[in-house]
Amino acid sequence: MLFYDRISEELEELKSLDRYRVLPDITARLGKDIEVNGRRLLNLSSNDYLGLGDDTALLEGYLREFRLSSHAMTSSSSRLLTGNHPLYDQLENALAALYNRQSAMVFNSGYHANIGILPALCNRHDLVLSDRLNHASIIDGMKIAEAPYQRYRHADYDHLEELLAGAQGRYRQMFIVTESVFSMDGDLADLSRLVALKEKYGAFLIVDEAHGVGVFGVHGLGLCEASGMVPQIDIITGTFGKALASTGAFAVMSSLVREYLLNTMRSFIFTTALPPVILGWSLLTLERQVSMFSERAALLQLAARLRHELTGRGFDVPGESHIVPVITGGNDLAVALAERLKDAGFLCMPVRPPTVPEKGARIRISLRSTLQWEDIARIPEIIGG
Ligand SMILES: Cc1ncc(COP(=O)(O)O)c(C=O)c1O
Repeated sequence: MLFYDRISEELEELKSLDRYRVLPDITARLGKDIEVNGRRLLNLSSNDYLGLGDDTALLEGYLREFRLSSHAMTSSSSRLLTGNHPLYDQLENALAALYNRQSAMVFNSGYHANIGILPALCNRHDLVLSDRLNHASIIDGMKIAEAPYQRYRHADYDHLEELLAGAQGRYRQMFIVTESVFSMDGDLADLSRLVALKEKYGAFLIVDEAHGVGVFGVHGLGLCEASGMVPQIDIITGTFGKALASTGAFAVMSSLVREYLLNTMRSFIFTTALPPVILGWSLLTLERQVSMFSERAALLQLAARLRHELTGRGFDVPGESHIVPVITGGNDLAVALAERLKDAGFLCMPVRPPTVPEKGARIRISLRSTLQWEDIARIPEIIGG
């Protein structure tokens, strides 16, 4: 079959499976709301968990203060060539100090971090053990790495221990990789259990805090801070593109691991560095979020109330964070529910396989500290139909 015929056929198949994707027509972001196809809806699909992306005063102040030199918008090169900038040092020093770890490293995105770290650290002599529900970027990182990998059942640490025990002594190094707050289920990894397993089996633990940063921990450092596990986790990653309302990602680690990654991590070495205007903004939002104590508390209270209302009506609402999924099972049901919510003025995206497991289609309600209960009070009733 000709190439173009084959890919057209595959696209038709995606349509028939309700898995066909199109870019939404976003015409404006208006604070809590968003305009999609000319329609104003309450945005319940944003990762701007603390509302920092909507803080126009903060942004205007930043643009006034930040002396926009002619090179602010581009670094024009990789960090190892001429793209490095003093703001990188400031940002990495601020991260290392906040986490009280030896060093930090800034990456172009969480995707870059996850597709680069594992391939840099392991090869065919090592084993990677990954939570079954880890994000696609972690899975891609495992595929790029030459190391064999196994996926343990989601948050099933007895299963993880079985795998660790079975593999002990057969590999140069075992790696455990997990998200802290699972992006599609909104549930939490048991970091103290993971640290205990890592110590028992001499494994290297990597925790992705993409959805934990800004939301968990007194200073917003993530679930690792909330569970007191920051010093024990070998690498903690986080993104700037979610609660920190910027672009890029970071990881904290020992100085030795940083030195090694700097020399071996291809998605760090072979890409143009972030522009200074973004680095300065990331530094500002990182520092700003540290003291957003009441926002974090309000966000988690709002989520708990929504979960309580939905489970009270008999819905399957897993998790315990600001990400509130309502599992529908069928793809068509998730799409229909998202449409019903849209008709009522709410934007909640349906999430379907392969982003979630087969028969695990859902709508994912992503809350923000800037929302009040009144903004979302109608949702349980609408979902109840
Ligand atoms: C758990 C997790 N890790 C990594 C990423 C990728 O981060 P980024 O958007 O900065 O590439 C995401 C989402 O985008 C995520 O949910």
